[in-house]
Amino acid sequence: MNDRFLRALRQQPVDCTPIWLMRQAGRYLPEYRALRRKAGDFLTLCKTPELASEITLQPIRRFDLDAAILFSDILTVPDAMGLGLTFNEGVGPRFDRPISSRSEIVKLPIPDPSDELRYVLDAVRQTRRELPSRLPLIGFAGSPWTLATYMVEGEGSRQFEKIKHLIYTCPKDAHQLLEKLTRAIILYLNSQIEAGVDAVMLFDTWGGTLSTETYKMFSLDYMQQIITELPRTTPSIVFTKGGGGWIKAIASIGSAAVGIDWTVDIAVARAQVGHKVSLQGNLDPAVMLTSPEIIEREARRILDAFGDGSGHVFNLGHGITPEVPPDHITTLVETVHEYSRRFHESVD
Ligand code: CP3
Repeated sequence: MNDRFLRALRQQPVDCTPIWLMRQAGRYLPEYRALRRKAGDFLTLCKTPELASEITLQPIRRFDLDAAILFSDILTVPDAMGLGLTFNEGVGPRFDRPISSRSEIVKLPIPDPSDELRYVLDAVRQTRRELPSRLPLIGFAGSPWTLATYMVEGEGSRQFEKIKHLIYTCPKDAHQLLEKLTRAIILYLNSQIEAGVDAVMLFDTWGGTLSTETYKMFSLDYMQQIITELPRTTPSIVFTKGGGGWIKAIASIGSAAVGIDWTVDIAVARAQVGHKVSLQGNLDPAVMLTSPEIIEREARRILDAFGDGSGHVFNLGHGITPEVPPDHITTLVETVHEYSRRFHESVD
């Protein structure tokens, strides 16, 4: 078993720093594009366990990554709540029936994962069986706040005008929506864990658009409720993009690790969290579009900044972009594994 990733999440000694990459299965891989062409669209890939499982394994076959992440999407949960999700090429996600009134929030059902989201659990079980050398498998969900932004806006947004109007003018309704999402996500993540994932990650992609006060009330508190309801034996990672100013608060909600984006100095973050949590991150995804020399230099810079000892899972500060040449990933993974050995020898 390659357990570097799980050991680093628990701050136990490792031989070198583990690495996996957000969106490691996706459009930068020609074998992914070929499968998507065959399937017709992205959601069909998510809803067909054999295909989702195959795509989860694609990056693992190519690169020496230390974890696989289930191929799916955070928006499967609102889809299961009846909002009617579609993904349009070049446009992104869109809901046919976005949330626009209190009565719609009241009527929202909490999906039973073993029913409406069974395809995700089947994909976990199939992937678990096929994963080579028992690499750890990461399950995930969107944070309640991030899912609520898509459900209220109806699609991707720049200003978040509708959801922000809701939290300031009708906070009770916003809380009711977030509470329902929290219950749905607790059931969903626990089902993923029962089906075989080894760790879980909460993607709070839009938490960083909130003020400090509203972040705590409308995003962090709900993520804390979720973490509290997960088994202690399954490590969790909480990632708020743009949450660099709140790292200490995020580190206190009980997760094993905190994900950080590239705007954060990982040395400063480490000093802030001490041994409370591990850190995951934080290379600027734009670096992956440069050259092997620059990728190596920037990866070393982050490893140097984290310094000696366990408690770091190397990752990008956000997802891989579709134009990244796959060879660049090989360079990054090799650099992280080789260069980081010097930071672990003394503790091994
Ligand atoms: O990381 C992985 O490899 C696992 C799979 C994964 C996907 N989405 C696949 C995907 C994960 C963990 C996600 C999470 C997700 N989905 C987030 C949170 C993380 C983040 O990136 O901020 C968000 C906000 C979504 C919602 C979503 N899904 C958007 C806004 C889009 C369109 C934007 C885009 O990049 O095209 C997606 C589509 C999506 N999810 C793709 C993949 C591989 C691209 C689909 C395609 O065109 O083939």
